[in-house]
Amino acid sequence: MTATDVPSGGGGPEAGSEAPRAGAVARPVPAGLDARVAPVIAIDGPTASGKGTIAQRVAATLGWHYLDSGALYRLAALGALRAGLGFDDPAAVARIAATLPVAFAPDGRIRLGADDVTDAIRAEAVGNGASRIAVHGPVRDALLALQRSFRRPPGLVADGRDMGTVVFPDAALKLFLTASAESRADRRHKQLIEKGISATLSSLLQDLRTRDARDASRSVAPLVPAKDAHVLDSTTLTVDETVARVLALWSARG
Ligand code: DC
Repeated sequence: MTATDVPSGGGGPEAGSEAPRAGAVARPVPAGLDARVAPVIAIDGPTASGKGTIAQRVAATLGWHYLDSGALYRLAALGALRAGLGFDDPAAVARIAATLPVAFAPDGRIRLGADDVTDAIRAEAVGNGASRIAVHGPVRDALLALQRSFRRPPGLVADGRDMGTVVFPDAALKLFLTASAESRADRRHKQLIEKGISATLSSLLQDLRTRDARDASRSVAPLVPAKDAHVLDSTTLTVDETVARVLALWSARG
């Protein structure tokens, strides 16, 4: 299979094609397929709470698709950076977000135009830019249809900040995954060191607190647990234990 181009609401693979592997990002609903039949597990939470890892593992276990909505905000931020735009120009950044020439490959690689940006969008500067553009309503609106287009049978596990509150308010199961700021900074630090990227724990902790505050205090789609979300604190849990709790909640749903 080749990468699938994803203009806003663009065409996708044939109906009935297999769910992508863990780590791959699900692709849009093919025209004519009724997305309402596909259940959604929404996993929201603050930065570095481990929701991406947990969501991918849950998706892989259930054989479902996976949406990393933060990647779309990161792609829009990178697109804005490359276009020489400031993060504080909502209309211009929204235009970029609405026309992202993005392609998700089944192996998890992400391209923006001809460039493989899988690693570039993980840079701290791009993550901070994503948090800054995410405060703008027009940018969020521009990404809404694209996010919803990832919902397809047999189901979707979506991670982000507003999956359960705004994007998929009818999600069958909603989780709000959190952990102490110190343990999140520590996890992020270890990840970066493993990748050979140097970073100090104190600056990561400060960045993370700034980003948490911005994500939680913005007026549009702030980072808050949905009223019907299960709040799961993973500070003292391993990845396996956290995945097991999410799957148990899913099974208990009946
Ligand atoms: O999950 P992440 O760190 O890749 O997300 C990067 C930023 O994108 C995050 O700081 C806020 C924004 N974001 C958002 O506002 N809503 C989402 N559903 C996902 C991410």
